[in-house]
Amino acid sequence: MAERDKVLSVNNLVINFKTDNGILKAVRDVSFDLTQGETLCIVGESGSGKSVTSKAIMGILANNAIIAGGNIIYRGENLLEIAEEEFYKIRGHKIGMIFQDPLSSLNPIVKIGKQITEATLINSDKLKLMYNDLISEDMIRYKNTLARMNIAIDTEKKKLDLLETEIKRKEYDSVAAKAADQSLLKEKKAQFKDFVKKTKEEYMGQAKQLKAVLSETEKRAKKQVKEYKAQVTEEHNKAMAELKKRLASASGDEAKKQIQQEIKEEKLAFTNKLSITKEEAKRRALEIMREVGIPEPEKRFNQYPFEFSGGMRQRIVIAIALTASPEILICDEPTTALDVTIQAQILELINRIKEERNLSCIFITHDLGVVANMADRVAVMYAGKIVEYGTVDEIFYDPRHPYTWALLSSIPDVDSKEKLEAIPGTPPNMIFPPKGDAFAARSKYAMNIDFREQPDYYKVTDTHYAATWLLDPKAPKVEMPKIVSERIRISLEEDNHEQAE
Ligand SMILES: Nc1ncnc2c1ncn2[C@@H]1O[C@H](COP(=O)(O)OP(=O)(O)OP(=O)(O)O)[C@@H](O)[C@H]1O
Ligand SMILES: [Mg+2]
Repeated sequence: MAERDKVLSVNNLVINFKTDNGILKAVRDVSFDLTQGETLCIVGESGSGKSVTSKAIMGILANNAIIAGGNIIYRGENLLEIAEEEFYKIRGHKIGMIFQDPLSSLNPIVKIGKQITEATLINSDKLKLMYNDLISEDMIRYKNTLARMNIAIDTEKKKLDLLETEIKRKEYDSVAAKAADQSLLKEKKAQFKDFVKKTKEEYMGQAKQLKAVLSETEKRAKKQVKEYKAQVTEEHNKAMAELKKRLASASGDEAKKQIQQEIKEEKLAFTNKLSITKEEAKRRALEIMREVGIPEPEKRFNQYPFEFSGGMRQRIVIAIALTASPEILICDEPTTALDVTIQAQILELINRIKEERNLSCIFITHDLGVVANMADRVAVMYAGKIVEYGTVDEIFYDPRHPYTWALLSSIPDVDSKEKLEAIPGTPPNMIFPPKGDAFAARSKYAMNIDFREQPDYYKVTDTHYAATWLLDPKAPKVEMPKIVSERIRISLEEDNHEQAE
C-alpha cells in the first residue's frame, strides 16, 4: 500500500486497564491501516476490545487505562504522544466519532442548534486554518520522518525486551548455559545501541533538512497570511470610506437606510473573511442538518435532544461530527440502539455521506449483516486481538479462522431470522487471557499447540491474513463448518444466477 494512501495506521497497540481484580488486557497487539476512502469494519463479540481501540484513536480512554505499547500514526504524528491541546484540534477537526447511544454524546439541556453551531465555531479562525493548510504538507513530511525513526527504534527495542524477559524466565541446568545467554544479551544490547545511533544519524540528517524546509515554508506562510489580512482589511477600509462618503451626501431617509444596510453587510462580509460569525455558523448548521436528512431544520434548530426520536438524534450526532469536516469518521455501533428500519436509514446516510465527502471510515459492529452492507475490508477481533483480516469478499467467501467461521455460523438466516448456531462457551476473562490462540477453548478445531502458543499471522493473499495454526503447513487439513460452506455455495450460486440473467 502506498504510504500516501494510508490515512491512519495503528501499530502493535497494547492497552491494559487497572481493575480491583488485577490488570485487564483489553487490546493485545493490534495493528491495522486505514486507506483513503475505504470503510474498515471491526467485528467481534462483546468485550473483544473494539470500543477500547477506537477510544484510543480518539484519545478518550478511561482514566484507569494504561497504554502499554504501540502507536497510532495520523498525518505523521503519534496520536498517543501528542500534547492534549494538539489532540483537541485533531479530534474535533480531522477525526470525528459517532457512538452507539446518541443521547450520551448530546448535552440534554442545550438546544440542538446551539450544539451544532458551537462545533462550527470551535474551528472558526480562518487565518489560522489558512496558515495550517499552507504548512501542512511540509509539516507532515517532517513529522513522518521522526515517526518512522521512532518506530524503527521501537521495533528493535521490543525484540530486545522480548529476549531479555525470555532469558530472565529461563531455568538453567548449568552455569555455562546461563553465562552464554547473558553474554548473548550483552552483545544484543550493544548491537541495539549501535542501531539506535546509526538510525538516529540516518534519520536526523533527513529530518534536519526537512525541518529547514519547514521553517522556510512557515516563514512564507506567515507572510502570505499577513498579506491576505492586510489586503482584506485595505479593501474593507476602502469600501467603508466609500460608503460613509455616500452616506454623508445622501439625501432622503430611504437612501440613507439603504446605505446603512450596505454598511452592515460590508462589515459582516469582512468578519466572515477572517472568522466565522454566528450568522454564518447558523447558516452552515442548517445546511448540515439538511444534509443529514432532518426535516424542517429551522424549527428543529430550537429544540432540545429529548424532543427528537432516536434515529433523528443519531442524525444530529452525525451532523455535529460533520461540522468539523473530518477526514476520518469512526462509528462505534451507531445503529445498535435503533430499530431495524431506522437502522437501515442511518446506515444508508453514513454510506452516502462517506461517498459525498470522500471520508475514510472505521465502522465497529458485532453484526455481520451490517458488515456486508458497509465494509470494504474487515478485521475480526477476538479477546483483544485481530484474528483475521481481509477484503469483505475474502472474509465472507473464504474465511480461515475458526472464530470467523463461528461468527459466520451465527448470522441469523435472512429468511427465518433465526440464529443458526450460537457460538459455544463464553469469551475469556481478560485479566487472565488464555495462552496461545484465545479461541481454542471454544473451538472444536483446536489442536494442542493452540493451547500453548500464540499463532502468528499466516498470509492467505496479499490482502488476507489469519492468525490460526490451521494455516500452518504442518496442520492437518480441516474443512470449515458445513453451515458456512453451504451458505457460501448458495450465495455464490445466487451471484452466478444474477450475472447470468
Ligand atoms: N475502564 C475500564 N476498566 C476496566 N475494564 C475495561 C474498561 N473499559 C473497557 N474494559 C474492558 O475491556 C475489554 C474490551 O472492552 P470494549 O469496550 O472495547 O469491548 P467491545 O468489543 O467494544 O464490546 P461491545 O460489543 O460490548 O461494545 C472488556 O473486557 C471490557 O470489560
Ligand atoms: Mg463497544
